[in-house]
Amino acid sequence: MCGITGYIGENKTTDILIDGLKRLEYRGYDSCGIAVVDGKNKLYLRRVSGRVDALDKLVAGDPVKGAQSGVGHTRWATHGAPSEDNAHPHTDCAGEVVVVHNGIIENYLDLKEKLQAGGHKFKSETDTEVIAHLMEDKLKALHVQAAAMRAEMLEPVFFEAFRRTLADLKGSFAISMVWARCPGLLLAARMHSPLVIGLGKGENFIASDVSAFLKHTKKVVFLNDGELAAVRMDGVDYYTFAGKKTAKDSVTIQWDSTMAEKGGYKHFMLKEIHEQAEAVENTLRGRLLPLGGEILKAEMGLSAEAMKGFSSLQFIACGTAYHACLVGRGLFENFGLVASADVASEFTDRAKLMARGTLVVAISQSGETADTLFAVREAKAGGAKVLCITNTVGSTLTREADYVLYTHCGPEIGVASTKAFLGQLAAIYLLAGHFAAARGRLSGAEARRYAEDLLKIPRLIEETLEKEPEIAKIAEAFSASEHFLFISRHLNYPIALEGALKIKEISYVHAEGYPAGEMKHGPIAIIYKGMPLLAVAPSGRTLDLMAGNVEEAKARGADVVAIVDAASRKTVKASRYITLPEAPELFTPMLTVLPLQLFAYYVALAKKCDIDKPRNLAKSVTVR
Ligand code: F6R
Repeated sequence: MCGITGYIGENKTTDILIDGLKRLEYRGYDSCGIAVVDGKNKLYLRRVSGRVDALDKLVAGDPVKGAQSGVGHTRWATHGAPSEDNAHPHTDCAGEVVVVHNGIIENYLDLKEKLQAGGHKFKSETDTEVIAHLMEDKLKALHVQAAAMRAEMLEPVFFEAFRRTLADLKGSFAISMVWARCPGLLLAARMHSPLVIGLGKGENFIASDVSAFLKHTKKVVFLNDGELAAVRMDGVDYYTFAGKKTAKDSVTIQWDSTMAEKGGYKHFMLKEIHEQAEAVENTLRGRLLPLGGEILKAEMGLSAEAMKGFSSLQFIACGTAYHACLVGRGLFENFGLVASADVASEFTDRAKLMARGTLVVAISQSGETADTLFAVREAKAGGAKVLCITNTVGSTLTREADYVLYTHCGPEIGVASTKAFLGQLAAIYLLAGHFAAARGRLSGAEARRYAEDLLKIPRLIEETLEKEPEIAKIAEAFSASEHFLFISRHLNYPIALEGALKIKEISYVHAEGYPAGEMKHGPIAIIYKGMPLLAVAPSGRTLDLMAGNVEEAKARGADVVAIVDAASRKTVKASRYITLPEAPELFTPMLTVLPLQLFAYYVALAKKCDIDKPRNLAKSVTVR
């Protein structure tokens, strides 16, 4: 959701900014732009409504070779329609101060009214533009607009005006700014919206996430809320909004920039589907044996004693990560541990009602999802301990949680989450195994068996993905349908929800996931002759009931595709089957979701949808 790039150095500023924007495209956006300043204080501002490729073409002939600093942005519309005028960067009246912004300035209407009364002319409908005009006022108040000062002398003034501007803003923001009169300094600030600085040699970078500049440097500094950075070619200084200088440590990112490239696949989504065995393997590696021991203590300070002490677990997350939470709930309940799961945006008064001793488990691929962060803050305020499961090192969630369990999936670029989900499931199975063993719910021998079964999952994932050609054929056969139903029970019910979500996201058709037993309480009425119904029915204790529910749906005309294993195939009567390798019942969600991801992918492909950048969606949802 919106992306920021910033660059200062002697390389090709425009190329670096645009390449960075291309790498942030996965976050979701509808318009984009850059602004660069050349050595003669001339500012070039270019924006388009649409894709970064169009921006790239637009700047191809620009005479901006001498630019040494600039900012770029991909915008996901909140205030004002997607259009060139509303695209960032935005400028003040003089066209000298340039700002890009992620987040929402909550008091922008008040500020805009005052600025307009003071004579400022606005060119967009955005909340962001107030920042540029505020800066103009602050600079004027510092008496520099007319003065013929040298650029170096202007730096402290630029900095002070920026600080004063920040003091007037309410809401969430990541901001990066350049001032044409002062091209040797880029300013950046963060409040509730991620921003990261990349440290190079004789050049430095700003971005909303590291993938924008990983190609150039892996050494990064994450800004915290209330911090700003003064970024020069030869170094970066950090301050609080109050102006106090702070020391910050850099971290080295282990991801390789090639991990964020398509590697021969047609889409990132397909590549990421095929990276799932590795994602699970990497997430489990070295963390399983012995279960219930001190492994989690060494990694994140969660001792066996602490695991014994919690009275219940409360999972919170959004979207696909919420579906992982539902699997987590079922798994912990299977081990006799009380657990609940809530969508983070609906976790309102419940935060205060949690029993003392509840462990909140917040799951987020990005670690930046506003709804999840808000729910975590509420839970912490109520006294709960928070464990987060995330894929993103240094993300906001990791800094707010008491315990951090990383999934090791590598960067997920496709907007529709696939491998991050499998990584989340792997982390949940890992956590549940440790909890169950620590609390005596698994004997030594059972714990070993559990770990061994879990370690077999990556190979079974690979085996399942070999079914891709037949899944593609089934998907193509149904691709003209405007409605899809997904049903299952117990641990696989969240997988039915996930199957429906995947197809909605990338094919824009109506799909519903339902607990199979609930169908006859209402939804069965919508079944019509030929309606595709995907029934997730692996062997296990719910199989007979599932087989009955499939019969009920068929009797109303549903055309059933059954996701089965060799044994359950004998029980479920469907018109088509996708047969998976057999796995212990408890672990089946890590396999049953795979054909549904591929099914959604191939329906979208047949419909010629923009699979990696689905309409209206953003990868990292940083507004509530
Ligand atoms: C679905 C999808 C979203 C995310 C949700 C939470 O494919 O990607 O539903 O799962 O927005 O995002 P994170 O995990 O980053 O908190």
